[in-house]
Amino acid sequence: MKRTLGTCYYPEHWSRDIWERDAQQMADLGLTWVRIGEFAWSRLEPSPGQFDFEWLDQAIDILGRAGLRVVLGTPTATPPRWVVDKHPDMIAVDAQGRPRKFGSRRHYCFSHAGYRDETARIVTILAKRYGKNPYVAAWQTDNEYGCHDTILSYSDAARNEFRGWLRARYAGAGNDGDIDALNAAWGNVFWSMEYSDFDQIDLPNLTVTEPNPAHVLDFRRFSSDQVVRYNRLQVDILRQYTDAPIAHNYMGRITDFDHYDVGRDLDIASWDSYPLGFLEDRVTASEDHRALFYRQGDPDFQAFHHDLYRAVGRERWWIMEQQPGPVNWAPYNPAPLPGMVRLWTWEAFAHGAEAVCYFRWRQAPMAQEQMHAGMLRPDSVPAAAYHEAAQVMAELADAPAVTCPKGDVALIFDYQSQWAWEIQPHCQGLSYFDIVFDVYRAMRSLGLSVDILAPDTQDLDAYGVVFAPGLMHIPAALEQAMAATQARVIHGPRSGARDASFNIPDGLPPKIANLDATVSYVESLRPSVQIPLAGGGAMRSYREHLETQAEAILTTTEGAAAMVEQGSVAYVCGILDDAGWRRVVENECDRAGIVTLDLPMGLRTRVTETERFWFNHLPHQITWNGMTVPPAGVIRQAKS
Ligand code: GAL
Repeated sequence: MKRTLGTCYYPEHWSRDIWERDAQQMADLGLTWVRIGEFAWSRLEPSPGQFDFEWLDQAIDILGRAGLRVVLGTPTATPPRWVVDKHPDMIAVDAQGRPRKFGSRRHYCFSHAGYRDETARIVTILAKRYGKNPYVAAWQTDNEYGCHDTILSYSDAARNEFRGWLRARYAGAGNDGDIDALNAAWGNVFWSMEYSDFDQIDLPNLTVTEPNPAHVLDFRRFSSDQVVRYNRLQVDILRQYTDAPIAHNYMGRITDFDHYDVGRDLDIASWDSYPLGFLEDRVTASEDHRALFYRQGDPDFQAFHHDLYRAVGRERWWIMEQQPGPVNWAPYNPAPLPGMVRLWTWEAFAHGAEAVCYFRWRQAPMAQEQMHAGMLRPDSVPAAAYHEAAQVMAELADAPAVTCPKGDVALIFDYQSQWAWEIQPHCQGLSYFDIVFDVYRAMRSLGLSVDILAPDTQDLDAYGVVFAPGLMHIPAALEQAMAATQARVIHGPRSGARDASFNIPDGLPPKIANLDATVSYVESLRPSVQIPLAGGGAMRSYREHLETQAEAILTTTEGAAAMVEQGSVAYVCGILDDAGWRRVVENECDRAGIVTLDLPMGLRTRVTETERFWFNHLPHQITWNGMTVPPAGVIRQAKS
């Protein structure tokens, strides 16, 4: 697949006199894609039913005639003021019961039927008008579901639809809800929480102390399903009028909805990669780590999402927005080290991205993002990213098409486990995402190419080793696949610790096929406590005590089991530090005959079908194994 570049453009922000020049300059730079329209509702429909498409017709025409391919966004992330005035209760409500206000974006509740109707209306009109436009080569639904904490809404609309969702989930005879089934599943006898009717059930916020975790988990599932339903509403309309591929642009470390479920309805997964913003805002890291990587971003965080969204997109994925320079929204917003925009672009391609689009073409002189860099400065002078994109363009000319081979190892990431760990963490700071990411980091530090798998994956036999840390409830189909596979499967901590209704499984956890082990008790630990492992590394934060005949293959210095194995199943009985996870991954790869590399800090590698890429994420040169990689350097080698 040929790799391409693009940008995000807002014709409605600029005078028409410069559209032609902008389009020509994009084309001259070699860009293929230009994404437009995703926030333009107030200019498309300034008042109810009064449309102005003339400007968008012209913008698409100018861009298309310059040779660019347009990605047209549906504008539903920014309903204009009149939509909110028409449906005041479409606004999402936060966990404190406060309605969120108009004046920025994403101010809608997924459960509001009136807003869904407005959505269907505007999407239909756009799809009819541009569905067959030869220059509109792809569509984007909405913009960044979940950004700004916008999945969970505690509105009346959400409460009413949640009751309907529960009736369907706990359907009894005659397809009506069976409230006794719900009471039993949730364990509502505890604290006299039993209901006699679904209409008594409220949303799980503002309770005196913590709400029932089973209630919260169902609310989280419902909230995720609402996103799927909302996105599907748009996709179903678009597909009636266009054959162009449809994408959504996901974000980094947003886990409040199941991206695999949304992704199944789309042709392409894309995501918005802001490495420096993420390092300050979303990566769990020490101050030293932040200081070392502040101009480069975390060396693994972007790659993790590349691999995750490759799974969400079933191999087809893009970067829809690539950080071009300093952003405006993180606690600190440094400029990238020269060369990093190029490195981020190549790293995405090495992980299989079809396209990388830079956000945004020109820095905005007004409103919220004035301090966010673009490819051009507001005065249209090219900024640093422009030149780095030009360099990538030149390099792409002689680059072979990039195809991702199957990864060396597999790692399962499961959104429902993320919700479960959040709902019942046992101590402060525990995060399922961090556990999975720590294992991923260990894999990358050993030079491995990783495939992230959805929890409904059946094809485990394709791998020698599958890591499934922290999978709190193992869905039945996956349990069967795990029981049947030849692959070695690494579980724990907390794997199989709850059933689908958030209860301790019969007997005791873990409920894992082919493993005779019982977690007799768990404990959580202060951040300052480390339980050293014999041979290096430590357990931290969370620990389980096992009763088992399975063989301990990793122990604490006091001789307690830290990891056990039985046949091809292994279980890690706690959260490990970086050195601990590295030992586990290295040992498993050794046993499976998978080659690992002992990479120095900051050096990362990734293979495609034809090439091996090396990336230096450090601000200084790395010399390793006879190879010298400059700071922010990328080396491409033909694969022997
Ligand atoms: C993204 C968003 C863009 C822009 C960008 C700034 O989250 O999709 O519209 O706001 O961040 O970094």
